[in-house]
Amino acid sequence: MAKRRITDLLQMKAASEKIAMLTCYEAGFAKEMKKAGIDAILVGDSLGMVVQGHGSTLPVTLEEMIYHTENIVRSHPDAFIVVDLPFGSYEGSCEEAFRAASALMKAGAEMVKLEGGAGMAKITAFLTARGIPVCGHVGLLPQSVHLIGGYRVQGRDLQVAAQLIEDARAHQSAGAQLMVVECVPEEVGEALSIALDIPVIGIGAGALTDGQVLVMHDMLGVRGDVVPRFVKNFLASSAEKGDPSIEGAFKNYVTEVKMGVFPGKEHLF
Ligand code: KIV
Repeated sequence: MAKRRITDLLQMKAASEKIAMLTCYEAGFAKEMKKAGIDAILVGDSLGMVVQGHGSTLPVTLEEMIYHTENIVRSHPDAFIVVDLPFGSYEGSCEEAFRAASALMKAGAEMVKLEGGAGMAKITAFLTARGIPVCGHVGLLPQSVHLIGGYRVQGRDLQVAAQLIEDARAHQSAGAQLMVVECVPEEVGEALSIALDIPVIGIGAGALTDGQVLVMHDMLGVRGDVVPRFVKNFLASSAEKGDPSIEGAFKNYVTEVKMGVFPGKEHLF
């Protein structure tokens, strides 16, 4: 696979080719993703839950994000690598955000992701003006789980959905080049992908976004506790097709995302 850059993701949106992204935090799995042709990796702060066993992403530190970023850069440098700014490392001021984001870029991140609406767009503008590519994240914001009262679907209400699209637009105008939208009805994911020029990657946002991302542990069926409705166990489905390997699960995910087979009707809100 040729090295994927943000320009490739933009071209994929223009050509209506779906982008296949997964979270990843360590070398062995990243190497399997390389064999499977995963376009983009998100070193997500979800590692706080699936790797460290916390109940939320809030405890994850910048140092931990740097460590996991380095693991991925060493093992699948061909993927486009997006890294989460962890809770508490960027919200306070633009300068604080720059310090955290530049540390992630030095570790090998090619883009940093931050959660929040239009109020956070000034941070996007500050970072992009200083050469740091930014991915926005709207919809369900896991770092605000205690503010919103749990992991709930967002944007069912028309007004909230319209605000969500305005929030994403504000980040795009501020220079964001990619957008993640989490846990919204399919119509909202579709409307967002139409409204934005930049690629929109959905998680629990229906089949009509420009690409998909899942938490790797969820799609391998190893999370153990509650499995969200939008998740498919690709290790189990690949085994049913005769290939019970991790590489097979990742390959099936890439194929189903590219063909628009995943997510199916049963995964929608
Ligand atoms: O941290 C993460 O894995 C994420 C995804 C839920 C998009 O931000």
